[in-house]
Amino acid sequence: MKIVGPFLFILALGAALVAFFWRDTFEPESLSGARVLVTGASDGIGEQMAYHYARFGAELVLTARREAVLQKVTEKCLKLGAKKAVYFPADMASPQEPEKLVQFALQSLGGLDYVVLNHIGWSPFEMWGGDVNHTRWLMEVNFLSYVAIASAALPTLIERKGAIIVVSSLAGRLATPFTTSYSATKFALEGFFGSLRQELNMQKKDVSVTLCVLGLIDTESALTKVRGVTTMTAAPASEAALAIVKGGATRAMEIFYPWSTWWLCQIRDWFPYQRDWVIRKFYNYTSA
Ligand SMILES: NC(=O)c1ccc[n+]([C@@H]2O[C@H](COP(=O)([O-])OP(=O)(O)OC[C@H]3O[C@@H](n4cnc5c(N)ncnc54)[C@H](OP(=O)(O)O)[C@@H]3O)[C@@H](O)[C@H]2O)c1
Repeated sequence: MKIVGPFLFILALGAALVAFFWRDTFEPESLSGARVLVTGASDGIGEQMAYHYARFGAELVLTARREAVLQKVTEKCLKLGAKKAVYFPADMASPQEPEKLVQFALQSLGGLDYVVLNHIGWSPFEMWGGDVNHTRWLMEVNFLSYVAIASAALPTLIERKGAIIVVSSLAGRLATPFTTSYSATKFALEGFFGSLRQELNMQKKDVSVTLCVLGLIDTESALTKVRGVTTMTAAPASEAALAIVKGGATRAMEIFYPWSTWWLCQIRDWFPYQRDWVIRKFYNYTSA
């Protein structure tokens, strides 16, 4: 009976600390007039992020490959309240495009406050089949172009005390089946941008780097791939997009969406064999 009091006290203190550190400090006004570049903005989470930024009154440069789709997304952003919205069609498999994209953004907006790196090239959701050329191409699209865009944008971000937002994945923290090359590109992003964050901090350059760890999200491209292969449930893209936008605006080091991804990352290294066994249970696969 004597331990009930202290136990309740510790529980209440823990709850208060969790409520304090996880409270929503996002101020929507902070994004009004902010100059934002969003990649992979023609579809999925990138498109939803563009709409959120538009509702908050940001100025936008949107990019992806399909010009006609980008044009529609841009028009919708203007209707939703974006102060300005322009688009730049580009294929990030081409090493020249990142520099051109940033130059276009600087000419259009006069500077950048947020660089949101989100696009991904197509990758299969299946056993590794040995296609090294695809892995090389995917590294260019999913990783090297992120590095090139961030590098070209760094001077303006330093000047404006801006933010780099990198959309990563649970597959960039945990080894999951059927995602070999994709996973490699996401682990690479985590390493590069985690290290860059440290260096910016050491140089007292006030540019935040937010790494976004997402679980399965209900975008068309993701659902088409995993249907019938995994029993995992998908979280809504619009909510994922809002969590990313808020995380960038509050200069969070990391965001996790849905919350279950946070727990998985915390316990990742505790029981490796059991962890991998549990992960495999989410996949419908029988070996021949
Ligand atoms: N959906 C999920 O379950 C999930 C889970 C974890 C993490 N994520 C991360 O969330 C981000 C967005 O995923 P998503 O599901 O929204 O993807 P998505 O719906 O497939 O959209 C991908 C975007 O990238 C663009 N894109 C594709 N290839 C490109 C290229 N070569 N050059 C330039 N742009 C290109 C696409 O537009 P165009 O075709 O017009 O080029 C599109 O706008 C990614 O970083 C992904 O890794 C997603």
